[in-house]
Amino acid sequence: ERQKSIRNFSIIAHIDHGKSTLADRILQKTKTVSDREMKAQLLDSMDLERERGITIKLNAVEVLYTALDGKDYIFHLIDTPGHVDFTYEVSRSLAACEGAVLVVDAAQGIEAQTLANVYLAIDNDLEIIPVINKIDLPSADPKKVKNEIEDIIGLPAQDAVLASAKEGIGIIDILERIVTDIPAPKGDANAPLQALVFDSLYDAYKGVIPSIRIFNGTVKKGDVIEFMNSKAKYEVIDVGVHTPKTIIKEVLGPGDVGFLTAAIKDINTVGVGDTITLANNRAKHALPGYRKMNSVVFCGLYPIDSDKYNDLKDALEKLKLNDASLIYEPETSQALGFGFRTGFLGLLHMEIVQERISREFGIELIATAPSVIYHVHLTDGSVITIDNPSKLPEPQVVEFIEEPYVKATIMTPKEYVGTVMDICQKKRGIFGDMTYVDANRVTITYDLPLSEIVFDFFDKLKSTTKGYASFDYEISGYKQSRLQKMDILLNGEVIDALSTIVHRDFAYNRGRSVCERMVKLIPRQMFEIPVQASLGNKVIARTTIKAMRKDVLAKCYGGDITRKKKLLNKQKEGKKKMKAIGRVDVPQEAFMAILSNS
Ligand code: GTP
Repeated sequence: ERQKSIRNFSIIAHIDHGKSTLADRILQKTKTVSDREMKAQLLDSMDLERERGITIKLNAVEVLYTALDGKDYIFHLIDTPGHVDFTYEVSRSLAACEGAVLVVDAAQGIEAQTLANVYLAIDNDLEIIPVINKIDLPSADPKKVKNEIEDIIGLPAQDAVLASAKEGIGIIDILERIVTDIPAPKGDANAPLQALVFDSLYDAYKGVIPSIRIFNGTVKKGDVIEFMNSKAKYEVIDVGVHTPKTIIKEVLGPGDVGFLTAAIKDINTVGVGDTITLANNRAKHALPGYRKMNSVVFCGLYPIDSDKYNDLKDALEKLKLNDASLIYEPETSQALGFGFRTGFLGLLHMEIVQERISREFGIELIATAPSVIYHVHLTDGSVITIDNPSKLPEPQVVEFIEEPYVKATIMTPKEYVGTVMDICQKKRGIFGDMTYVDANRVTITYDLPLSEIVFDFFDKLKSTTKGYASFDYEISGYKQSRLQKMDILLNGEVIDALSTIVHRDFAYNRGRSVCERMVKLIPRQMFEIPVQASLGNKVIARTTIKAMRKDVLAKCYGGDITRKKKLLNKQKEGKKKMKAIGRVDVPQEAFMAILSNS
């Protein structure tokens, strides 16, 4: 029967090992999309994903496959992102699957996120099918990668599929292995409905559309469903699947992965990880939800145009629906006005959200420099948590401050061991251990302050190892550090949105370099602007933005009109992403000046 022919799986891999290309190839080989409709990275539906060539959101599609045994199978392929910031999305996908196709690059071998994703798959009891991809590359060494899979992960790999997603080699082998190795979903169609909400999106006409995986029972048009956690009830209008086209179905049953619509207007009633059941035949228990992910990086988001505050609120609400890990609350800044303190899973996540707000909602933003969460122990014995440096109490009432540390795992070719250790040392890292993966590669672990990783750790690591080192981290706990608030003054006034918390040993260097960068980033104005960095009341660095000497237009006095227009336009463009703070126009880049630091 139908349920026996279903196979639910994810493709997991380190970033760039070829996950999306393999997904494309599977859609093509199974004729899910015709060659005419095929475009690269079909499942990466956001423009942003295509441009950057990365997967951000998970996507689920139904694929029909006629196997070599002559039987028809229904595959649900759930694509997952590879970047460490999006591990949350990966674990959500995996909870909806029985198996995982593990893609490893034949030239690069196992990398930090290969391991992280494999552990997630093992945690979810998934059947893992190893695939060695990119065997077309001259530098491919499948035998070596097989050994790595066995030695490092402990999975039998002698029968790993050798594939080239690019050239279409090994795809049928992979499809066959999915049929034979991955178990069909269990579940009872006659039991009360239990459907896991693993994602959701907002449609202006249809309301909130939850993506669901059915574990028990069935759901169809007309059923009255209940969200077990939020208790909200709705009548189902349609159920269906994506192929990736939207196909409406009569009914969804155990093992099915699809969506339902129910004119859900209240965004807050649909929680990702919630269980949907039937109102008149409730399941006894909800399915295990998701581990709540804690934001680790915070920044302030402010609309450049203050009138857009409500639009920004609306945008955040809608994004949250699609990205359950996003958190935010209103905050005000003397310098920037009304905005939101927003929490993210990492820096890339932060960048992506900002870009989505500007693209999908047309709101221009100023984002303040990212901050981690500090535990501040006060002299009266109480402890407060701070995610906004400008909120740090006066030094007199602070006993000590603790900051979050991560356990970082770095894999690198052995010739870069010295370089990697040098970077970690400079970032206040505490050496953990070092083990040889094989004759040429090493795994190094370090305890590092999260705030240093937020700075430029990843870029530094990549550039000094020519991209060969890979990196993964998890929060390990809090440690006391000698930290202090550094303020930036423009024109003699402290700009709250530019305050940061710095380690005392780095304060002078950081202060100096921020002041120097400000001079480059803030355009000259009609008057001179002093820029200062201060610790407490002590100025530790100072520069000056010189006054503009001539009116820009004076240059083309008598000149031709088009040139004049061009200049004016150029000025206008430059102004677009600026916020007037007092008498000074400050561009977005200036708020990030603290980040590009050595
Ligand atoms: P994320 O979605 O960002 O996690 O990356 P991904 O793992 O999905 O990688 P993607 O499919 O985008 O492929 C990364 C790069 O490797 C692209 O430039 C692909 O063209 C290339 N690539 C994928 N498969 C193969 C292959 O079999 N051989 C070769 N030579 N290149 C491949």
